[in-house]
Amino acid sequence: MSSINVYNLSKKFGKLIAVDNLTLDIEDEIFGLLGPNGSGKTTTIRMLTTLLDPTNGSAKICGFDTKKEAGKVREKISYVPQEMAVDVKFTGRENVRFYAKMYGVQNREKKIDDVLEIMELSDRADDPVKNYSGGMRRRLELAQALVHEPEVLFLDEPTVGLDVAARKKIWEHVKSLQKNGMTVFVTTHYLEEADTACDRIAILDRGKVVAVGSPTELKNKIIKDTIIAEVNGEFIPGTFPGVIFVGQNENILTFIADNGSEVVPFLVHEIERQRLEIKTITVHKPKLDDVFLGSVSVFEESGGFNDIKFRTMLRRRR
Ligand SMILES: Nc1ncnc2c1ncn2[C@@H]1O[C@H](COP(=O)(O)OP(=O)(O)O)[C@@H](O)[C@H]1O
Ligand SMILES: [Mg+2]
Repeated sequence: MSSINVYNLSKKFGKLIAVDNLTLDIEDEIFGLLGPNGSGKTTTIRMLTTLLDPTNGSAKICGFDTKKEAGKVREKISYVPQEMAVDVKFTGRENVRFYAKMYGVQNREKKIDDVLEIMELSDRADDPVKNYSGGMRRRLELAQALVHEPEVLFLDEPTVGLDVAARKKIWEHVKSLQKNGMTVFVTTHYLEEADTACDRIAILDRGKVVAVGSPTELKNKIIKDTIIAEVNGEFIPGTFPGVIFVGQNENILTFIADNGSEVVPFLVHEIERQRLEIKTITVHKPKLDDVFLGSVSVFEESGGFNDIKFRTMLRRRR
């Protein structure tokens, strides 16, 4: 049994189809939902976490139906929303304690110590949260989310508004949670992060999944490697197995191939056979950015989630 099963899940707001016929099976993994603003990421998470009823379709978490068995689902999950979920007037420990009480956690104080320790907040646990950095607040939200030992963790844009070091740290924690047996469902629009952190990714475009797979699979499927060679004369095109010659621009030859590094020796041989001198030859692997831009329509909803606004808001709260 997978941790998350989604069948034809849809959500309409009036005439707007925010989520369109989503079907996914998610195992014990870090699963990333990627998409531009307004593509339906938060709406999907809100349905999976029982906060919003789907218009059509259904979803199961650890075998429990999000609509018919919402209570059971809530026991299995934790959700860290996009907007802040900590109270800055209280200390870190008090914030976590509030959650622990709400969930009726047994052996409470020990558990609170544990999650604060896991999130590297022990030394600052008794400071008011208003003195925490953005990264520490996010880690505190994770600590809160962990206190009742969920099996599935939902994170909506967990690294938005954080600096590079804090983002890296959040992902390290997320990865170690997954290694310890948790399924993580995470939305992000930072492609680089999804590329390195997620086991699998779905790309959402206006509510529809347009691609699913591991970052490597997606990159291989959609975009090929590019091989760039700098030579000192004119190259005569021919038919080469596994390589397509794109063209020559002055001294630069461009080829594309499914596996760039495999065909380089052959290309070197071919270029030299034509008595050309190779100054440089390099293979460029596709980036997830390329896949993303190739799969989603150039569409960003102005009324959707606004990164800059969120950062400004975070700054104001500090
Ligand atoms: N409660 C709501 N009422 C009406 N429209 C909504 C509501 N929530 C979201 N939407 C719309 O649904 C679409 C998807 O939004 P959302 O799931 O927040 O996208 P994302 O999280 O990918 O930025 C957007 O067009 C948004 O404006
Ligand atoms: Mg969102």
